[in-house]
Amino acid sequence: MKPVQTKTSEEVKKELRQYRYSKTIGFVPTMGYLHNGHLSLVEQCKKENDVTVVSIFVNPKQFGPGEDFNIYPRDMARDLKLLEELEVDIVFSPSLVEIYPAGYSTYVEVEKLGDVLCGNSRPGHFRGVATIVLKLFNIVEPTRAYFGQKDAQQAVVIKKMVNDLNLDVVIRIMPIVRDPDGLALSSRNAYLSREERAAALCMPGALQKVRAKILDGLRDVSVVKDMLQREMNKEPLINVDYLEVVSLDGLETLEEIDMHNTLVATAIWVGKTRLIDNFILGEI
Ligand code: PAF
Repeated sequence: MKPVQTKTSEEVKKELRQYRYSKTIGFVPTMGYLHNGHLSLVEQCKKENDVTVVSIFVNPKQFGPGEDFNIYPRDMARDLKLLEELEVDIVFSPSLVEIYPAGYSTYVEVEKLGDVLCGNSRPGHFRGVATIVLKLFNIVEPTRAYFGQKDAQQAVVIKKMVNDLNLDVVIRIMPIVRDPDGLALSSRNAYLSREERAAALCMPGALQKVRAKILDGLRDVSVVKDMLQREMNKEPLINVDYLEVVSLDGLETLEEIDMHNTLVATAIWVGKTRLIDNFILGEI
């Protein structure tokens, strides 16, 4: 069955009214151009909820000036087909003006957590993410919402927003999905040339090596960061944006690995493409 396609908040709210008090509503917010990472979220959502809603909206407020908003890959027909195959109940694909009408002026800022790591390289990014996610939560009012661990900082920021603003939704964070060569799935992988893709593999490779050392007993964060840097230096086609070892709950710099509360996060540039990856010790 084709999912019910809705384009306005009124439409999706109306569609959900029949389920509101008797069924659980699972929600997967996306920016489209779906890959197996997104589809794993949808599958998990379907397992855990009576009704599954997927949104597709490329949110301009989380892109900085000069970033890739205009060229971000889009393919609505393909996305709808994939969601139909997975028997998603409702797709919400609003227009820009539906979400941000003229004069729009309200934003959500998750202080501190949104300023480090990717927030440092992409000022305003998490303000844009928190704002759209809160708006989508208010429209869909889901029982549970699903996000990928690849965007670990996003997951931490959203969990904090949900907690701080007393939102009645359970946030579920699902594991990173990788291609067989180890590259974490991302819509932005579509930008990579063959050469760039091969170069990008040094990031999951470096993370894997460091993880093995940590599991072997390495605890000194400065040694971990040196190792990561050395591995990344082996690949001339990439530039490191950041490599950080922080606490999972507060994203605070660590000196020692805490086996129950650590995020090892990296971001690199491969040509004009920025890619992120991570591993965690503990739970987001
Ligand atoms: O992770 C994403 O695709 C986006 O940041 C999200 C959560 C859909 C908000 O635009």
